[in-house]
Order: sequence, then structure tokens, then C-alpha cells
Amino acid sequence: MKIIHAASEMFPHMKTGGLADVTGSLCKSLSRFGHDVSIFLPGYRKIIESPEFAKAKPKVVLHVELGDEYLRGEIYAMPLGKRQTMYAIRRDEFFDRSNPYGSFNRDYDDNDRRFIWYCKAIVEGMRLLDIKADVFNCHDWQTGLAPLFLRVAEEEYNTSLALKTFFSIHNLAFQGLFPNSSFRYTNLPSEFNELDGIEFYEQISLIKGGIFFSDKIITVSRNYAKEILTPEFGCGMEGALNTRSSDLIGIANGIDTDVWDPSVDDRLPAKYSLSNLEGKRACRSHLLRKLGLAETDNPVYGIVCRLTEQKGVDILLSQMSFFSKRDCRLVVLGTGDPKYERSLKRWAKTHPDKIAVCTVLNEAMSHLVEAGSDYYLMPSVFEPCGLNQMYSQRYGTPPLASDVGGLHDTIVDFRQDAEGGSGLLFEPSEQAFRNALEESLSIYGMKSEYEKMQANGIKRDFSWTNAAKEYEALYSESI
Ligand code: ADP
Ligand code: GLC
Repeated sequence: MKIIHAASEMFPHMKTGGLADVTGSLCKSLSRFGHDVSIFLPGYRKIIESPEFAKAKPKVVLHVELGDEYLRGEIYAMPLGKRQTMYAIRRDEFFDRSNPYGSFNRDYDDNDRRFIWYCKAIVEGMRLLDIKADVFNCHDWQTGLAPLFLRVAEEEYNTSLALKTFFSIHNLAFQGLFPNSSFRYTNLPSEFNELDGIEFYEQISLIKGGIFFSDKIITVSRNYAKEILTPEFGCGMEGALNTRSSDLIGIANGIDTDVWDPSVDDRLPAKYSLSNLEGKRACRSHLLRKLGLAETDNPVYGIVCRLTEQKGVDILLSQMSFFSKRDCRLVVLGTGDPKYERSLKRWAKTHPDKIAVCTVLNEAMSHLVEAGSDYYLMPSVFEPCGLNQMYSQRYGTPPLASDVGGLHDTIVDFRQDAEGGSGLLFEPSEQAFRNALEESLSIYGMKSEYEKMQANGIKRDFSWTNAAKEYEALYSESI
């Protein structure tokens, strides 16, 4: 099949979260299955300045309508290996920035123009490059209008650009909401600015475009696919989603086992595998030393995430005394809401030998935290899929996670199933988290129990091969 993906992030070219990991490894897997995969990405500064870009070929020049202007852009083709091509859409006014969506926790003021233009530029690029795709798969609000613009362009030019369109929802909490006045940048007839179009409570919502105007909607776990049909998790989109429920499919993400494998991971001070966990102990000591934490016979708990409400930082903060009083260790690697950064840093300052908080984005450090911790924490309030709980199981670090979204689908509770259990699940509440922490401590004290849970996790197969096969099956049965 000829498959096109369009997104705003892809590892290693641009990453702020799991979306990048997913587009990177899904496209790689699909190309390994023999499909021709093209990926559209904005030509961010990081991409333009990369050594690979020096070899990129300018392919086409675009003039894309945005309101009452035509704005120029250029598409560069960068081969990413066999059967994979990345198309970077360059318009420096919009994308020559170091952060994709904003800086200092504030979204850029021109995100409406940037991403509406980007959606149109992708479609115009597909037309000019004459790709004739079987599958066009867009991801999240940043590409939400592309499936609609594609059908509009097909009609205008009396051509076929893609047989079927797919829209993947990675996180319904981010909807691409803009003032209704931004609708003019779409150049769509006003009937699309209505309830069954992209209008949303007197604003416009780009994610709604993806929900209404793609042939199939994918989300990143089966459980989240059910949850988002309810007011509790639907973020106001449950009505729109319910009208499309027969076209909504949940496929749990996988993980890139080329990048996340403790037996070959060059980012770690020592490598290890199930048959010899010596290296994991070395990683633990290295992590504690590096962060100035004291050695302990009690567990080291790690967490790597965006510091936002979604990730359950309030739940974590409510139990900080556990880490100081019970003589455990806590390592937090994350950036985000300044109020969370400040509160966590205060705890680290008052308990420097027990709690360490690093408010940086650091890929290598994220591997060390996964490897060097004894437990991984994920008290998320909601979690479409989550990747770190899978990384941690593979790294022999059982997760303690909320029983929501993809965490429910990818973690087996050790208390329910001692033979296969690889972590602890709890309701996302302060008390339930506290209970899980206490239980994790007692399981850690029973060496053979802990080792069993650890081994169960290491043995699980989270590789993309399975998930990508589900995408492949969905694509081929749809076209
Ligand atoms: P989300 O996409 O909601 O942020 P995921 O669990 O799907 O959550 O993916 C988050 C990804 O971002 C993981 O690969 C995680 O390791 C990474 N990550 C988050 N914060 C940091 C950080 N401060 N440094 C390095 N990697 C981080
Ligand atoms: C989102 C979700 C996360 C998911 C990731 C990749 O950012 O918050 O749960 O794993 O996308 O699909």
C-alpha cells in the first residue's frame, strides 16, 4: 500500500511527547512490512539545521490560500531509509522556531494560521507530488483539517489523492480550539462553521474536523476508545464521537524496541537482560549517585512525564511524605506547569538525599530513570495509551499506575494475577495511590514476589510489530 502519515511530531526529528514516539515507530514498522510510507512534518528549525537536511531535495513550491492571502512554502524530501520518505514543509515564518506549539508554557498566538496553513499545505503537497495514496493517516488536532481539505481538493481538481482517510486521536484534551474568527483562514464555505462542522461552542475546533471528516477514527487504546464516548473522558467531544462510534477503533500503541531495549541501550551505564540483572543494579547506583541521593534498601520510585494535571501530579504531590517518611527514593524527570515544578522542587530542596527533581527534557536521562528505578509511577487522571508503563515493564521496573485508558490495557495487576501480573493498578485517587505505594513497599520486601512481578513485565512483548499489524489490517480492510 501507499501510506501517507501527517503529524506535527516524529521521533527523532521533533518530540514533545508520545505522539513523536508513535509516528516514528509506526511508520518504521509499516515500511518494514513492505509498504511505501511518506510522512509529512513541519520544517521546524531542528529539522532544517540537521545534517540530513543538507542532503534533502527541494521538491515543490506551494502557494497556499490562507484567508485573503496566498502564502508560499516549499517541500523538501528526506529519505529515511528503505521505503520511507519524510516531506518537510518549510515556511520559516511559521516553523523556524525551536518549540513546535509555544514557549514558556504559552501557545503561540498564530497557531491557528500555522496549523490551518499546514493542513492545506500537506494536501497541496500530495497533489503536486502526485503521490496517489491508498491511505492518508493524520494525527491529532494539528492535522485535524487535512482529511476535509483533501476531499475538498479532490472535488476541486477532479482527482483522487487518497482512497481512505484515517484520523488518530492521541489525546482528546488537546483540541486545537481557536476563536471563531479564525474560520476565515480555512476558506471553507460557511456551512462547515456549524454544529456538524468544526464549530465548537462558538469557537472552532480543528480536532472536530478529523472526527467528522475522516473515514475512520483511530485512538491509541481499546479502553480509551470506550472512555471517550462518555462525558467523563470525552472532553466535550463525546457527542461528536458518538455519532461516529461505528467508525471508531482502538489500537494500543507499541514501543520501539530498537530504542527501548536494556540489553543494547547505549544510553545506560550498564546493559542488562532478564537472565542477568546485574546491570540494572549498576544503573540504580549510578542514578542515585548522579542525583546525590543516599543508598537505601527500600525502593527507588521513578517518574518521567509532562508535569500536567493529566499525569496525576496532584495525586503524586499529595503523597510526598511517603517518600520522606518511609525512607524511599523518588526521582522525577519532567517539565511543564510551573506550579508543579515549583512544588516538586521544594520537596527536593527539603529532602535532598531522598527526592530528586530534574525539570529538563533529556532523552538519555529518561532511559536511566526507567532502568535505575525499582518502581515506575503513573498516577494519571486519564491516559489515552501511555508509553512509559511499557518502557518500564521492559526495563524490569514494575509500574504503579491508574486503572484508566491504555494503562488498563497494557498492565496486568499482580494482585489479580500473580502468574502474569507485571504492576499494580489503582483508581486515580490520593487514597488508592497511597495504598498502592504501601503495597509496593511490602511486595519489594518479599524478594521472590517482587522478582516474579519484574520478570513478568520483562517477558511481555510490546513491540510495534503487533500494533502495526492491526493498523495494516485496518487499512487493508478499509480500502
Ligand atoms: P504523553 O505523550 O502524554 O506525554 P506518553 O507516555 O505517551 O505521554 O509519552 C511521553 C514520552 O515523552 C515518553 O517517551 C517519555 O519518556 C517522554 N518524556 C516526557 N518527559 C520527558 C523528559 N522530561 N525528558 C525526556 N523524555 C520525556
Ligand atoms: C498522547 C497521550 C498518551 C499517548 C501518546 C501517544 O500524548 O497523552 O497517553 O501514549 O499520545 O499515542
